[in-house]
Amino acid sequence: MSSRQDKPTWYRRRLLLIMALGGTAYMLASPSALPQTPQGTDGAAGQQAFNNACRTCHMVREGDNRLGPNLHKIVGRKAGSLPDYAFSGAMKEAGFVWDEEKLDRFIANPDEVVPGNSMKPYGGLPSSDDRKKIIAFLAQTR
Ligand code: HEC
Repeated sequence: MSSRQDKPTWYRRRLLLIMALGGTAYMLASPSALPQTPQGTDGAAGQQAFNNACRTCHMVREGDNRLGPNLHKIVGRKAGSLPDYAFSGAMKEAGFVWDEEKLDRFIANPDEVVPGNSMKPYGGLPSSDDRKKIIAFLAQTR
């Protein structure tokens, strides 16, 4: 009788140990779970920021349009110019070429740069640091 009750206790302890070890391993493997260290590689930080803020709607791979157009070689690309993406009239007629400064203002507040654009529901990215990282990342997709 008593040996039957011993087993679950032993089993539970072992489960707890495994969970604790798993948690530690997760912390070590996941950079976001660790305290922020100075970003050594800008590219990785930029990719991370892009993934957080843009990747729901945008890919950087050429031809890979999702809800938003792909952002391949966006620095130096004419606004609203991809032939295989249905841009809003506002974006098609924006009439400028994306550069770092335009991107920065657009990501901060899309409607200020291209009023009537259809990049919705996107609220703008207030952190200029994150914007800078993302633009540096996008500029690498040349
Ligand atoms: C909720 C979805 C969504 C999110 C999130 C989003 N976008 Fe967009 N984005 C769009 C859509 C839709 C368009 C097309 C807008 C239009 O045609 O008016 C667009 C257009 C753009 C364009 C213009 C592309 C061109 O070919 O002229 C740029 C640049 C851009 N987004 C950058 C970004 C960046 C950088 C982020 C992250 C900081 C971001 N977007 C986040 C949906 C999104």
